[in-house]
Amino acid sequence: MQRRNFLKISGLSAGTVVTGGSLAGFLVSCSGCKKEHHMGLMTEPVMVTEGDFSTLLSFPAQAGLNQTLTAQATTANLKGTTIPVLGYQPNSLLGPTFKVNKGDAVNILLQNNLSEHTNIHWHGLKIPALMDGHPDQLADAGSNFRYQFTVNQRAGLSWYHPHPHEKTGKQVFQGLAGLFIINDAEESALNLPSGQYEIPLVIQDKRITNSGITYNPSMEEVMAGYMGDSIVVNGIYSPYTDVSTRYYRLRLLNGSNARVYNLALSNNADIIVIGNDGGLLKNPVTIKEILIAPGERLDVLVNFSGVTVGTELFLMSKEFVQGGAAQGKQSFRIMKFKVTSTVTDPFTVPANLSVISNIQVSSAVKTRTFDISNAMEHHGYPMNDGMQMRHRINGKLFDSNRIDENVAANTNEIWVFDNSKGDEPHPMHLHGVFFQVLDRTGGRGTRIASESGWKDTVLVMPGETVRVLVPFESNTGKFVFHCHNLEHEDDGMMLQYQLS
Ligand code: C2O
Ligand code: CU
Repeated sequence: MQRRNFLKISGLSAGTVVTGGSLAGFLVSCSGCKKEHHMGLMTEPVMVTEGDFSTLLSFPAQAGLNQTLTAQATTANLKGTTIPVLGYQPNSLLGPTFKVNKGDAVNILLQNNLSEHTNIHWHGLKIPALMDGHPDQLADAGSNFRYQFTVNQRAGLSWYHPHPHEKTGKQVFQGLAGLFIINDAEESALNLPSGQYEIPLVIQDKRITNSGITYNPSMEEVMAGYMGDSIVVNGIYSPYTDVSTRYYRLRLLNGSNARVYNLALSNNADIIVIGNDGGLLKNPVTIKEILIAPGERLDVLVNFSGVTVGTELFLMSKEFVQGGAAQGKQSFRIMKFKVTSTVTDPFTVPANLSVISNIQVSSAVKTRTFDISNAMEHHGYPMNDGMQMRHRINGKLFDSNRIDENVAANTNEIWVFDNSKGDEPHPMHLHGVFFQVLDRTGGRGTRIASESGWKDTVLVMPGETVRVLVPFESNTGKFVFHCHNLEHEDDGMMLQYQLS
């Protein structure tokens, strides 16, 4: 049954709140639906349309550590047309890239020239709660907010984006995001490919029209997350870049609202994973394909040295299973690498990358379990309190006046994300900390290559339960944790912990 027909039959229009009173009739009217998901709302994949990979990849400008970011309505060239977007700088889809060394002080004035409030969350930075872009800490339209902090953490790829509750999805989708790269002595000593051989890639999906980047999620798109049919990399639609016959370091961010990618190279070459959200892994891991969910980062090495000059190959996303109804149904190409020159490459992949000590499970003083299955939506919970069809954690919607979890500073805890009864992927993100992934049961049944070391976002597929071990340190205050599917987050799939 198509959505339009279904809505017609049941007399609902998009945006209608389904309350307990009408539920019985709603379920009856749904009995002929092909699937029971979401009480009859069909979540369908948004198919990607590839471009011709003829636009040269470029990179956002480098940002100074003491400067103003102006959130603004501006324009950018997409698919050959200049269209309205949101940006942190004029004429650009993405904000400038910060490159800092551990120990650097950062002083950023967010000037909000949007017509609504916004803020900046520094995703992956361990900074004070009042600098973290909590949804309470906003710059109103026309005003500003000063972010001042010192970077006191190991090297890694972080990023920044707006976090105003119920507006995050729209603001990110229409262009507000940027990279924040931290370097340190340990990483420098490895002599990884750098300069032109180190390529940051922000992968996003967009809906591009001549009048701008469309963002108008229907009820189904709130359920599945909002996906685009056009893939942009660093804000460029369908790009290519020239490469030489040597190792490259790709610094990857999935900056999409909802789309999960299963990254691979089109020639089936090895991908060597050396890092993730929280920086370098202990040792490199060689794989052929790897999932990256919204909010996650990957640091990988690829070797073009065996490839004949003239060859064109692609970074692609392959089909994958277990992604629920709306994800993983298509293989598509993301960007093109043209091998154009021969060079000698002195680089060899280090066997040891970093020192990471595993936190002892026995050190955990508490285990907290979070039901992210949204079971009441999917499995006929009695909705006797008029609960709406929404994304929740432990049955709760975000409320900034309510502390959901009180955590003692300087203790280790096990947090369990239980999606065992769910039918949608949920990348779960904690602010203010990095954690270690202990294990995954159900679904894929195991940790994947990027899930050793330190993470701040972990993908929990339908049917899966993932346990993480979180060292809460002394950075006290009120922080959020949430699903990084931004439509789920904006829908209320976000809670708060207070560290004291
Ligand atoms: Cu990148 Cu609270 O999110
Ligand atoms: Cu989610």
